[in-house]
Amino acid sequence: MEQRTPLIAGNWKMFKTGPEAADYARRLLALLSGGTAGVEAMIAPPFTALSAVADLLAGSPVALGAQNLHPEKQGAFTGEISAPMLVAAGCRYVLVGHSERRQLFGETDEGVRLKITAALEAGLDPVLCIGETATEREAGRTFSVLDNQLKNGLEGLIPDRLRKLVIAYEPVWAIGTGKTASSAQTQEAHAYIRSQIAEGVEIALSKSIRILYGGSVKAENIAELMSMPDVDGALVGGASLDPDTFSRIVLYQRPW
Ligand code: PGA
Repeated sequence: MEQRTPLIAGNWKMFKTGPEAADYARRLLALLSGGTAGVEAMIAPPFTALSAVADLLAGSPVALGAQNLHPEKQGAFTGEISAPMLVAAGCRYVLVGHSERRQLFGETDEGVRLKITAALEAGLDPVLCIGETATEREAGRTFSVLDNQLKNGLEGLIPDRLRKLVIAYEPVWAIGTGKTASSAQTQEAHAYIRSQIAEGVEIALSKSIRILYGGSVKAENIAELMSMPDVDGALVGGASLDPDTFSRIVLYQRPW
C-alpha cells in the first residue's frame, strides 16, 4: 500500500490575534518537542496572524497555512490576499472551498477551481474542502455532491499539477456540531473520493493523494478515524484552538 504522510491541520477560522497566535505557536512547539512520530501538523491562522507565527514555525514539524486566497496575483481587489502574498508570508498550505466560504460567502466550484490553479502556480499546497449537507445526505445524494464538487473544482487541471493537492472531506452537518461522522461513514466517503480521483484524474494520484476528514474531530475520536485505511489525516476546527488539545490530536498514536 502507498505510504501517505498523515496530516493533522488546524483551521482556526476567525479566532486569535497575532500575539495570541504567537503564544499558541510557542506552546504547541513545546508540546510537540518530543517529535510527532511521522505525522505532519499544520495550522491555518487568520491572515493577520500569519507573520506573527511564520518565523516561530520555520524548520519545525508544524507547517503554516492560510484559510483562503484570491485567484489573481495582484490587482484592484479591495480586502483580498493573493497566493504569492501567502508564500511571502511563509505559508505552505491554503484551504480552498471550505463549506463556510461556500455557504456564507457564495463561493462556487468555478471560483474554487481558479483558486486551486492560482495556489498551485504560486507553489502552495491547496487543501480542497468538499462535503454534503444533512439534507443532501438524507436525500441519498452524498456521492453525487462529492463527485460534482471534485469534478468542477478540478476540471482541466492535469494530474502532474495536482501532486501537491490535499482533499478534505468535511460533511457540513458534522462541522461545529459535535456530531462526528462515524468511522464507517468516513471511510465510505473517502474510498469514494479516491475512486473518483482514480477514474477522473489518474490511478497513481488516487493512491498518493491525502484525504483528510473534518467535522467535530477531537482527541477522543481521532485514533478511530485514523484507523480507517483511506483516512490520511484531519482538518480540525474548534479543537485546534487550544494547543494542548491540538497536540493530543497530532500525537494520536500515543496512548494517553
Ligand atoms: P470543527 O470544524 O472541527 O469545529 O467541526 C472543522 C472545520 O470547519 O474545518
